[in-house]
Amino acid sequence: MQKPATAPSTNAHWQQTDRLATIGTLTTGIAHELNNPIGYILSNLISFQLYLPIFIQYFDILQALARCSDTEQKRLLQQQLASLEQQENLQFLLNDTQSLLNDSVQGASRVRDLVLDLRRFSHPDHAEFQRLELRPLLEMALRLSKNELKNHITAECLLEPASIWLQGQPAALTQVLVNLLLNAAQAIGANTGLIRITAVQTGASLELCIADSGPGIAPQILPQIFEPFFTTKAPGKGTGLGLPICQSIVQQHGGSISVGSSALGGAAFTLRLPAETTTASGDSSSG
Ligand SMILES: Nc1ncnc2c1ncn2[C@@H]1O[C@H](COP(=O)(O)OP(=O)(O)O)[C@@H](O)[C@H]1O
Ligand SMILES: [Mg+2]
Repeated sequence: MQKPATAPSTNAHWQQTDRLATIGTLTTGIAHELNNPIGYILSNLISFQLYLPIFIQYFDILQALARCSDTEQKRLLQQQLASLEQQENLQFLLNDTQSLLNDSVQGASRVRDLVLDLRRFSHPDHAEFQRLELRPLLEMALRLSKNELKNHITAECLLEPASIWLQGQPAALTQVLVNLLLNAAQAIGANTGLIRITAVQTGASLELCIADSGPGIAPQILPQIFEPFFTTKAPGKGTGLGLPICQSIVQQHGGSISVGSSALGGAAFTLRLPAETTTASGDSSSG
C-alpha cells in the first residue's frame, strides 16, 4: 500500500490540488449562496426606486404646507396629502421600505461574509501560522459548506470551553474542516442526517471530533482511506485526496487524525491538536 508522500513540495502541490478541487465542489453552492441574496437585494432596490418618488412627492407637499400661510391653500395641500396617503397606501410603503432595507442589509452582510471566507480560504496571509480561535474557523467552514449540507443535514457544534485557541494556518485548517464536512455530507447523501462537531480542550490538547449519521465506513476499506487517490466515489465526484491532505495538514500542526464509528451510526473523525493554554486576554486557562 502506498503511503502519503512527505516531500514538502509534493505535499504543497497536493494541498493546492485538493483546495482547488474543494473550491470546485463548493462553487455551485457558493454561486447559489451569493446569487440568492443578490437577487432579492436587487429586487428590493427596484421596489425602493418605485417608492422613492412617492415619498418625495409627499415630502414636497409637506414642505409647501409648512411654508403656506393661506388657509384655503393649506386646506388644498392637506387634501392632497390625504389622497396621496390613501392612493399609494403610504403606511404600507413605509413599513415595506423598512423590511426591504433590513433584508437587504442582512443579504449584503451574507455576501460580504462569504466573499471574505473565500478570500481567507485562498489568501496567502492565511497560510501563515498564527494564533487563532477555533469557533470562527468552524463557523467559516460551515458557511462554506452550507449549500452541500442543504436543508436535510443539521450541523451541531459544541465547544468546551466555548473559546479555544491554537497556533495554526487558518486556510489549511479550514481546508481540513471543509473536507471532513463534505465527506460527512456526501456519506449522508440525500437522506436526512446529522453532523455533530465537538471540540474539547483539556490543558494543552484539543480533541475535535466530526461525527456523522451516514452509513459509516466498511472495515475492509478502513486501512485505505488515508491513502492518496483512494476513493469510493464516482469519477468526477471524488479525488481521493481529501483525507491524505487532512492528515498531512494535521501532522504539520503537530497533531494526529483518526477514524472510528460514531454514536450517530456513521463515521467519526477525531483530530488531536495542541491547544493554547492562555485565553485571548492572556489569562491562564485551566482547560
Ligand atoms: N464520513 C464518511 N463516511 C463514510 N465514508 C467516508 C467518510 N469520509 C471518508 N469516507 C471514505 O473515505 C474515502 C476517501 O475520502 P477522501 O480522501 O476525502 O476522498 P474523496 O472524498 O475524494 O473520495 C471516501 O471515498 C469514502 O469512501
Ligand atoms: Mg473527500
